[in-house]
Amino acid sequence: MAKTVNSKKQNAAAKASAKANAKASAKANDQSQTTAAKTIILGIDVGGTSIKGVALKEGKEIFWCDEPTGKDDLAAQLESIAEKLASGAGAVFSEIIGVGVCCPGTIDGAKGVVAYAANLRLKNYPLKQKLEKLLGLPVKVCNDANGAALGEAVFGASSGYKDSVFVTLGTGVGGGIIIDGKIFEGNKGAGTEIGHMVIERGGDRCSCGRYGCFEAYCSARALTRRTRWAMEDDTGSAMWKNYDLSTADGRTAFEHMDGDRTARRVVEWYIKYLACGLANLANIFRPQAIILGGGVSAQGSRLIKPLKEQFEKELFGGSDYAPVEIKCAKLGAKSGAYGAVALFM
Ligand code: BGC
Repeated sequence: MAKTVNSKKQNAAAKASAKANAKASAKANDQSQTTAAKTIILGIDVGGTSIKGVALKEGKEIFWCDEPTGKDDLAAQLESIAEKLASGAGAVFSEIIGVGVCCPGTIDGAKGVVAYAANLRLKNYPLKQKLEKLLGLPVKVCNDANGAALGEAVFGASSGYKDSVFVTLGTGVGGGIIIDGKIFEGNKGAGTEIGHMVIERGGDRCSCGRYGCFEAYCSARALTRRTRWAMEDDTGSAMWKNYDLSTADGRTAFEHMDGDRTARRVVEWYIKYLACGLANLANIFRPQAIILGGGVSAQGSRLIKPLKEQFEKELFGGSDYAPVEIKCAKLGAKSGAYGAVALFM
């Protein structure tokens, strides 16, 4: 026991000294190259389960990192990620134009304040101010789904569309709406919270406090919960061969849907609600395309094919007149981080 505690302490000390070294070398390099050209932008995407970061030099990716979301102060974790990105990119701080951050919840973009984020348990959190103080670099903050929509519009799947809707299916369900080539955010950036529209009145409770929200049915978290309930009900399901109630997640039912009735039913259940939410959005905005991002979108055609069939049935007037394409994000898990970079372009 004492040994574990000691080795934990040694690990922590080693981590702290590695961090100090990275910081010292970035700053030391800075002093010798104060006139370095500014060519690098860092983009960070804060998610409920992981934080992803990218360093782009003149539009080209030079370093990527991904780590679990910690429980410490958010700005402190982002400081260490920015340092990791800078040192991984072999960059000095004076070469960095700025750090874009996209984050779940209502973001006051002008002030860089996280006004309210249920999934991160943050309220009126001055992210920009804190991070600029820690890094000495300009910081811009936006909502994660808006960031991902921007990333796909600039670098990815929606670059050719005038009107598109980005839907992220991760820990939460978020939306980024592009109308006439511009992101629509609503009053003070607090709009497009599509995950919190009710699709099942009186249904499952959502993290926002309402019941039956799109997020309570279509987030990766909701899919995981539904999969585990289905496994509990069917102890003979093939899903038990590879998973138990603590390891089953949003991928489990998709992986087993071809040979297992219970898994197939979970996928059908998920697609029914997803098609309903997407058809609601399409009936309001009638975009040229809906782009799906977040963890669940990694299912690709296993998700898209049955989803399109159901969606077509629910789309107002069908697709003869103004068809709506449904596609997976081209940048995959990277859309948000790339969108955060785009805040400085
Ligand atoms: C939050 C949104 C966010 C989405 C995806 C939702 O719970 O309210 O702001 O975009 O999750 O992270």
